[in-house]
Amino acid sequence: MTTHPQDFAQDIRLSDLWDDPYPIYRKLRRDAPVTFVPAVGRYLITRHEDVVFAEQHPDLFSSREKDSLILRVIGANMLREDDPEHRRIRAAAEPPARPRRIRTDWSPVFQRTADELVDSFAERGEADLFADFAGPFAATNLAHLLGLPQVRAEDMIRWSQHMMDGNSNYADDPDVWARATAASGAVDEAVEEAMSRVRDEPDGSVISSMLHADDPLTPQEIRNNVKVIIGGGINEPRDVLTAGLWALLSDPAQRADVEADPGLWRNVFEETVRWMSPIGMYPRQTTADLELSGTRIPAGSRVALVIGAANRDEDVFPEPDRFDIHRAQRNHLAFGGGPHYCMGTWVARHEVGEIAWPTLFRRLPGLALDPDRPVDVGGWVFRGLLTLPVRWQRP
Ligand code: HEM
Repeated sequence: MTTHPQDFAQDIRLSDLWDDPYPIYRKLRRDAPVTFVPAVGRYLITRHEDVVFAEQHPDLFSSREKDSLILRVIGANMLREDDPEHRRIRAAAEPPARPRRIRTDWSPVFQRTADELVDSFAERGEADLFADFAGPFAATNLAHLLGLPQVRAEDMIRWSQHMMDGNSNYADDPDVWARATAASGAVDEAVEEAMSRVRDEPDGSVISSMLHADDPLTPQEIRNNVKVIIGGGINEPRDVLTAGLWALLSDPAQRADVEADPGLWRNVFEETVRWMSPIGMYPRQTTADLELSGTRIPAGSRVALVIGAANRDEDVFPEPDRFDIHRAQRNHLAFGGGPHYCMGTWVARHEVGEIAWPTLFRRLPGLALDPDRPVDVGGWVFRGLLTLPVRWQRP
């Protein structure tokens, strides 16, 4: 007896998606590429061409999802707006994250962060690069970029986590709301301090850019959008950093290729975000009745653009489950593909691909996975390593 594709979708459990979503995605792409999954409460869109279609039609797939929990925690923000409101906020926030500014303003800051962190553990000969390096590295860099250099990495990480927990608090847990509210209040205070500093003396930070844009943002808009950037600018670079290291340290031949030709770090970055996309899916809401890959979706439906599945679509990427830095295809969707295309793309590419990985390989000779402590991996909305124990030769 064969299982009907719809029955398969009915039976998908969140715990299975968390453990390993890729076999489920493969089946969905083949048998039910657009289908309602009750456990998620959304239509999952899993084929590359369908995700591209949705991204190219923001008029049909709106980012302004009704009753989104993110609005309760953070308030209105660029991620959950459509154009033209979205474009106005993005134009004010984006200039410090453009490639030229990253090279001139931020590259030395990112390098200093990497070196100080490595200094703090190099003599140990072992570390968990998730907790000891990747998280604090991404958080410290983001604090500087935003214009909050006084904020400690551990506070950035805690605020980000507590706000994100609030954004997915479907169980309505009062403790989660309390922590999210406290985090949000702490960000407000830090932003207030930064705004008074840069009001008369603009600098190159995102907060300064928002305040002094041609069409400046209001203090409320600045606070809300700083929260979105904190929510999106720490975990994703952290996760690509650890996933790429894990993949490379598990594959001596590809590691040797990169060590012989540092120009390949770029490939490592693009292949890592394709292979284990740090954001596996993001939401949209339909504005009209429509049909996609043979499935009718009524107006007002909640849908998920599952880029973690689209980035392993065998019609676009041959042998999609293989980590292959020599892959020719580069049209992955790890940063999205429409008006909300990730604002931090060049920040992440630079801080991870050009600073973090080369610094770790240069400064930790003989870097290798710890054979006694295997890594943990999990997640599907956000997917990444939860630990990365490594060793190297002590100086
Ligand atoms: C490898 C690292 C990263 C990945 C894979 C990633 C992925 C994404 C994706 C998929 C979106 C689109 C979400 C949607 O349309 O709903 C997005 C949006 C966004 N990302 Fe990233 N991101 C990364 C790093 C960063 C960093 C470092 C920052 C901050 C400096 C950042 C800031 C943002 C912002 C502000 C948006 C919203 C843009 C808009 O609405 O126009 N991201 N990111």
